[in-house]
Amino acid sequence: MDLSTTYLGFTLPSPFMPGASPLVDDLDTVKRLEDAGAAAIVMHSLFEEQIVREQLATFLHTDRHGESFAEALSFFPNSDRFALGPEEYLHHIARIKGTVSCPVIASLNGTTVGGWLSYAKAIEQAGADALELNVYAVQADFEESALDVEDRTVLMVKAVKQAVRIPVAVKLGPFHTSLGHFVRRLDAAGVDGLVLFNRFYQPEIDVGGLMATRALPLSNAQELPLRLRWLALLSNKVRPSLAVTGGVHTAKDAIKAVMAGAHAVQVVSALLQRGPRYLAVLREQLLAWMDEREYESLAQMRGSMNLEMCPDPGVYERANYMLALQSWRPSGRVA
Ligand SMILES: Cc1cc2nc3c(=O)[nH]c(=O)nc-3n(C[C@H](O)[C@H](O)[C@H](O)COP(=O)(O)O)c2cc1C
Repeated sequence: MDLSTTYLGFTLPSPFMPGASPLVDDLDTVKRLEDAGAAAIVMHSLFEEQIVREQLATFLHTDRHGESFAEALSFFPNSDRFALGPEEYLHHIARIKGTVSCPVIASLNGTTVGGWLSYAKAIEQAGADALELNVYAVQADFEESALDVEDRTVLMVKAVKQAVRIPVAVKLGPFHTSLGHFVRRLDAAGVDGLVLFNRFYQPEIDVGGLMATRALPLSNAQELPLRLRWLALLSNKVRPSLAVTGGVHTAKDAIKAVMAGAHAVQVVSALLQRGPRYLAVLREQLLAWMDEREYESLAQMRGSMNLEMCPDPGVYERANYMLALQSWRPSGRVA
């Protein structure tokens, strides 16, 4: 059975890989992930704020007018809150490269075009095989239009693509006004892959303590259908390869993602819950399922449901919406 796939220009033996997470901070875990069949290793992100903080700190030391930046510095999280500082992150890339033979995908997380993007080059020089650009942002600035947000992201992508030769993927959130159009712009900017979709931390209210709380609960499979829809809509219509992230917990979830058009399947929550070895279980279950249904290759399965899901996206989406609403029947007496 041929499980091979291509992602970001790499030919990979299977679509499974750990998504960006602290799982790869420990080299022993990295090795266990590769032993369990990880086709690539995706590192957790290095954040714009970490880099800017370090750049500002250097500036404060070297510039006597630096005090005016002191207040700006105070808005950033303390560097001890991060597992790896910027320099340490670069060293860790080299350490991971020395531990595994599969491609290593580093991750930069930021929202603005700025000097911090020079780290893309440093990441490449440190040995990363590819770079995931995580453009995590909740658009809370009422002055910025959807077009402004897209323009800014496209500029970031162009800056990174100019700086490096390694492939660049962009990890997007689902909250874009016209995602297909935006993705076309990213495609034109030279992006090599799209990772769909980032998950956002959810603010909560502790009504007892009268406090706002922050949490990033692990995902569940209910988050997958949003990804399936967009994989199916984008598959074969844009050049970048597609990775799913969010809601893959079983081999069947992975099968659905591949059928909708995913080239790569990233898993985080399930691995945090079940350990690195679960990647091998997913792979074995995928093989068994494909064998039972007489598939010969993953390529044969990839995208096989995207027309079924979106024959004519414009019409079909509304038709399905109306059908779903109209077909709802209460299972018992409505109170
Ligand atoms: C503890 C934790 C840390 C994460 N750190 C990052 C990160 O540094 N960069 C990033 O792009 N995504 C990060 N993510 C998001 C994951 O890569 C992934 O997109 C998300 O968890 C959805 O996948 P899942 O349903 O398989 O968990 C993190 C997720 C978790 C749970």
